[in-house]
Amino acid sequence: MADLIGNKVAKNFAENVEFSNNGNFHVKGAANYDWGMKDRLSRIFNPKSGKTVMLAFDHGYFMGPTSGLERLDILIPRLADYADCLMGTRGAIRSSVPPTYNKAIALRASSGSSVLQDDLSHESMVVGIEDVIKMNASAIAIQTFIGADGQKETIEELNKAVNFGSRYSIPTMGVVAVGKEMERTNQFFLLATRMLAEFGVQIVKTYYCDDFEKVAAACPVPLVVAGGKKIPEKDALTLAYNSIQGGAAGVDMGRNIFQSEFPEEMIQAVGKVVHEGYTDKEGYEFYLDLVNR
Ligand code: R5P
Repeated sequence: MADLIGNKVAKNFAENVEFSNNGNFHVKGAANYDWGMKDRLSRIFNPKSGKTVMLAFDHGYFMGPTSGLERLDILIPRLADYADCLMGTRGAIRSSVPPTYNKAIALRASSGSSVLQDDLSHESMVVGIEDVIKMNASAIAIQTFIGADGQKETIEELNKAVNFGSRYSIPTMGVVAVGKEMERTNQFFLLATRMLAEFGVQIVKTYYCDDFEKVAAACPVPLVVAGGKKIPEKDALTLAYNSIQGGAAGVDMGRNIFQSEFPEEMIQAVGKVVHEGYTDKEGYEFYLDLVNR
């Protein structure tokens, strides 16, 4: 292992220089993958914009029926058309998402904790690879707790998913968790996102932070940014805009869409910012126009 003492802090991220090994493929770091992997990534990341609007509704697996997600069978049909990819558990998707939607699925495949516990950092891959294949998932999503009690086990589970995924050309999305006590500094996200990429995941889900450009530049695979707790629509669109400007390949947004008073309008506005280059201001005006129509 590299000697930590005297280790020089990284600073040359060349944030303004394009990633240089992309061939003619639109997903960062994916030029050397095979056809199946590229096909699945192309279902998640729109080949025209290179970006994704991922709708996250996997919160129930550790929180129960949180606000906005009481009735998935009613909510998801209202929003699915506007999402590139749906992120949920197999139980939610099988029961509440019609297969006729033919949407990319980021299958939440790790769990092990609930809000009844103080330490949520212990998760393992609980969905078998056979079920991932049967559900035609476009990605296996595994949460990893860097810096927490469950770090070693969740790294092992993430690597298990990468191994299975490589066998069947199914991308793994490494989910960077921020537990109650864990810091949200750019140093933390630089470390966590890069670790997950080096383990071999094809996508990293993370959070926006200061100096996000450096985090994105230092991560050789696409970053998608979680929305986090509900904030005003205007601010959530600014978060999406800053993320895209900072080098994210999309958002994986949940509460800021499904807890909005106008979720359909909100997800469409997010789509404009992510795919069509709208500024946050233009996205918010678009949102208001839809709401007031
Ligand atoms: C949380 O455990 C899940 O991974 C969510 O999918 C993720 O946090 C994104 O949802 P939100 O935008 O509500 O934070």
